Amino acid sequence: MSSKKLFYLSLAVFVGIVAYQVYLKATEKKVVPLTKSWEKAVPHQQVPKGLASLSAKQCGACHQAHYEEWQHSTHSHAWTDKQFQAELKKESSPYLCINCHIPLQNQQEYVVSGLLDGDIYQPVKQKNPHFDRELQQEGINCASCHVRDNVVIGTTGTAKAPHATKKDPEFLSEKLCISCHNASAVVTPTLVCTFETGDEWKKGPFYGQKTCISCHMEPVEREIVTGYGKRLSHLHYFAGSGIPKEKGAKTKGLKGLSFTTSKLATTYKVGEELDYRLTLKNEFAGHRLPTGDPERYYSILLELVNAENKVIASKYDRIGEKWEWWPAAKKLSDNNLNPGEERSFVLKQTLKSSQSLTLRAKVTKHRLNQESATYNKLDSSYPLSITVFEKEYKVLVK
Ligand code: HEC
Ligand code: HEC
Ligand code: HEC
Ligand code: HEC
Ligand code: HEC
Repeated sequence: MSSKKLFYLSLAVFVGIVAYQVYLKATEKKVVPLTKSWEKAVPHQQVPKGLASLSAKQCGACHQAHYEEWQHSTHSHAWTDKQFQAELKKESSPYLCINCHIPLQNQQEYVVSGLLDGDIYQPVKQKNPHFDRELQQEGINCASCHVRDNVVIGTTGTAKAPHATKKDPEFLSEKLCISCHNASAVVTPTLVCTFETGDEWKKGPFYGQKTCISCHMEPVEREIVTGYGKRLSHLHYFAGSGIPKEKGAKTKGLKGLSFTTSKLATTYKVGEELDYRLTLKNEFAGHRLPTGDPERYYSILLELVNAENKVIASKYDRIGEKWEWWPAAKKLSDNNLNPGEERSFVLKQTLKSSQSLTLRAKVTKHRLNQESATYNKLDSSYPLSITVFEKEYKVLVK
């Protein structure tokens, strides 16, 4: 090859490389930093001085009661939950789903440093060299709430603890709960977060009187480690709806509703009208009921059946939200009960012939409906609801 040809060839290659780089620069995606709290994990934590691990199991070696209570809580199922796992596998679920369910960086397989073009489906990620799979299984574990800046956060800063401890009651306040239990954001047109328990509480009658912690972490006097003497402590069941995560599991629930019924005669004359009223009141919850996940609802069923168990009159009602998720997420209706609000359900029936009848009243609370459970391939080992009120009356029509 002549040197002239070589020159032109090199020039062409050079121009080509420059042009390609200009092209790359022009189409390059910008890395947008993470801003919202749920876009980020709690930064990597070292094991606090005096401890061997961050795991709940390790905390439980000394804090036995706390550990046992926490194991009953849905917080300990926040990762292993079957519905969560089913939803996480969907392409429509962005990386950030995990940040409230396994909040510590130590629990996450990847470190996310930003978003390409600000798109939540294009996280810039690297393998996490400190990823701990066992810790991941624990979901929202002790360290999720208690370890920051490599020390254990408490409310007294007790010097009796063998581990590095810092006093920070402000951090361990309802603000911590609200950081996960209040997120309203349109993530994509078909994916919105609507947990507004914190806002509902701030607007309600319990604000200034009772907090998430005073209702969901009952105070008790007890030893927090055997042999260290009694002190102020708090139950760690995080009791809520009481709908268990596994069939037969004993789950602690709180009672949010009160129920009152009208009196029902035991005998009626043919032609008389039976008039039964069941009143539900959101008496004890510091927020709307149901709250949180928009899939939750109550169903109210009043039924009058004859001796052959045939339904001759019934009334069905539902308290909850209704959403349309496609083509764009839209709330269709919402009749959740505000704190203090009551609602009555009535069954009226003119009794036409002499017979013996049974009136059944039943209220159930649901985590999700059957349709959604089937869609997520959840089998019968995953309880969908519990009964919160049930009553039966025998009625004789003469
Ligand atoms: C080797 C035993 C041991 C282990 C393991 C242990 N702790 Fe402790 N912890 C203690 C003792 C002892 C105290 C002080 C008891 C007292 O003051 O009555 C304490 C106190 C605390 C307090 C109260 C601090 C305050 O400011 O009042 C918290 C919170 C706490 N531990 C959380 C944890 C967590 C979370 C873990 C696991 C990451 C853990 N502990 C592991 C023994 C232990
Ligand atoms: C790191 C995020 C996070 C923090 C902090 C947090 N929660 Fe939760 N909480 C969750 C998630 C996620 C669930 C649901 C887990 C599941 O169902 O698998 C949950 C479930 C609950 C439930 C049970 C709901 C039910 O009926 O099943 C209650 C009650 C609750 N949290 C109260 C609290 C309180 C009180 C605090 C503050 C002390 C708190 N949470 C702090 C994320 C959090
Ligand atoms: C969802 C957050 C959360 C989780 C998970 C959690 N705690 Fe706590 N814990 C708190 C809060 C909030 C307080 C302080 C309550 C107060 O004093 O108002 C507390 C208080 C404590 C205390 C001080 C004594 C007491 O009972 O008030 C100990 C000890 C403790 N936790 C241990 C644990 C251990 C061990 C685990 C895991 C098995 C755990 N915690 C899981 C939020 C949490
Ligand atoms: C005045 C007491 C009270 C306060 C304050 C309170 N709660 Fe509740 N909460 C309840 C009761 C009672 C229930 C049980 C409702 C039921 O299923 O009957 C409940 C249920 C829940 C549930 C389950 C949701 C459902 O509908 O099944 C979650 C989650 C929850 N609370 C979180 C919180 C958070 C977060 C805060 C603070 C912002 C808070 N709560 C403040 C009493 C309270
Ligand atoms: C801002 C924090 C946060 C983020 C981000 C988040 N969750 Fe949750 N998730 C919660 C809380 C809080 C609960 C409990 C709410 C309740 O029970 O009222 C929960 C409960 C759930 C449940 C159990 C529902 C039930 O009724 O118990 C599933 C499933 C779930 N989340 C899936 C997801 C998926 C999928 C994503 C991503 C699209 C996601 N979560 C992102 C906070 C969060």
